[in-house]
Amino acid sequence: MPELIPLISRQEIKEKIQEIGQKITQDYKGLDLVVVGVLKGSFIFLADLVRQITIDHEIDLVGASSYEGTSSTGQIVFTKQPDLELKGRDVLLVEDIVDTGRTLSKIVESMQELNPRSIKICTLINKSERRETQINVDYSCFCLDKGFIVGYGLDYNEKYRNLPAIFDLKL
Ligand code: IMP
Ligand code: MG
Repeated sequence: MPELIPLISRQEIKEKIQEIGQKITQDYKGLDLVVVGVLKGSFIFLADLVRQITIDHEIDLVGASSYEGTSSTGQIVFTKQPDLELKGRDVLLVEDIVDTGRTLSKIVESMQELNPRSIKICTLINKSERRETQINVDYSCFCLDKGFIVGYGLDYNEKYRNLPAIFDLKL
């Protein structure tokens, strides 16, 4: 049986999202913010984050997937494109976790073709050890060296997304 070891509590997550939400609110004053969540892993983080952003903004979703089990397949598959017009607007991409950075750099590349005024990245977890691409993460809630984590939207083979906090998964 896989073992789940508590890593980040619901309370810690809540406090950090409040802080990051306030920062984003300040930074985007007077801008035309569109918050774009990356499916599926960001859906819970996105829902909590946007409720801490108190300036007007719009929300969209993109779908991209690269993982099977605990390792990246290296292939990024786009499963959903944004619905909103992003041209000339200020896009904030919201991810659950940046690991190798491959998924996000592909998404950023494809978003750039839509000619937004700016693109920034906000991630719940910034996992640095396996980073392969030079990617600038603008807002990170938590930094982690290594490990495979689940809960609060993050999955292992589509399971554990519903856990209310973040756990280390030991297989
Ligand atoms: P990257 O392309 O290697 O940066 O992978 C990013 C994607 O891999 C994330 O959106 C997650 O879906 C998945 N991923 C990477 N590390 C973990 C982890 O520790 N737990 C769960 N999913 C992960
Ligand atoms: Mg995943």
